[in-house]
Amino acid sequence: MITLGIESSCDETAIAIINDKHEILAHQLITQYKEHSIYGGVVPEIASRAHLEYMDVLLKQVLVDAKISASDIDVFCAGVGPGLIGGLIVGANMAKSLAFALNKPFIPVNHLEAHSLMPMFFNPELKFPYLLLLASGGHTQILIVHDVGNYELLGTTIDDACGECFDKVAKMLGWDYMGGKDIETFAKNGNPTAFDFPRPLLHSKDLNFSFSGLKTAVRQTIEKIGDNMTNETKADICASFQSAVCEIIEKKIKSAIKQIKNLNIKHLVVSGGVARNFAIRTVLNNIANKNGMKLFVAEPKYCSDNGVMIAFAGEQNFLHGKKSDFTITPRPRWPLEELKND
Ligand code: KG4
Ligand code: ZN
Repeated sequence: MITLGIESSCDETAIAIINDKHEILAHQLITQYKEHSIYGGVVPEIASRAHLEYMDVLLKQVLVDAKISASDIDVFCAGVGPGLIGGLIVGANMAKSLAFALNKPFIPVNHLEAHSLMPMFFNPELKFPYLLLLASGGHTQILIVHDVGNYELLGTTIDDACGECFDKVAKMLGWDYMGGKDIETFAKNGNPTAFDFPRPLLHSKDLNFSFSGLKTAVRQTIEKIGDNMTNETKADICASFQSAVCEIIEKKIKSAIKQIKNLNIKHLVVSGGVARNFAIRTVLNNIANKNGMKLFVAEPKYCSDNGVMIAFAGEQNFLHGKKSDFTITPRPRWPLEELKND
């Protein structure tokens, strides 16, 4: 079975073709960095136009790369939410049009489910149910993944998402948008105990996160330092900030493992763009080892938005009996827990 997946929920236009042996036949991705960086963030209208401009270029290229024609594809998928509505419409319409013209199924994909299942594409030994930390630019959630389309939410952020907090701190330090990776790079040369930033909700009994107080504390520190900011101080801020995030994640995942002890879940997964962060991966790996669990995480470039994750989630949904549905329209908001009712 050959599946094509389209990702266009934010600022990455991506198309991939995979087969059901977990092989990538083609994957193309264009980051709209140059379109948005001058504005300091993603401009939805510009993103939609760029998706439209890049989509057919990428489609032609993936067919050449995979050495197949569109009629060889069995299932067409697109991420239809959550995300920026204009981009989602572009991707969904492309996949629907191809499926309609070739009389093939169209499978709408939840972007968060695509992140959640991605590590399974590379690690077939990863089995349901697993404990998941989903940490991206828009979401920070702890869930039990019982099966494809069956998610149980244990905790979520009550304000900013983890990736969003990384991005905002990066912006305060003068870096471009999507600056999470810059923080990680600078943190390597900094002292994680130089600044004592708060760890909101660290001792709360629930599994919810809060990052806005941490962000505000970093802002106040940067304002206080003012013109005396050096690269060394920036590195210390990054290291101290990242250390606070790691401690928050460590505490919440440890509590989650305690809470689900009776379920005997042996697999832990971290996915979403923040899963690229090596310090966070290390913390989670240590927790997994100490609790007799195994951590699964996709290789870094497949933690961020990509076409393979959409193709794989679409394929898995199709194999689980999800029917082709041309009536579905993109959804800016689409929580994972709602998949059970669809
Ligand atoms: O999953 P993703 O590519 O897009 C969304 O669905 O949101 O995640 C993007 C987020 C951004 O906030 C970005 O700064 C963050 O992932 N990110 C990182 C790192 N690389 C990307 N955060 C921390 N450390 C990193 N190395
Ligand atoms: Zn994403």
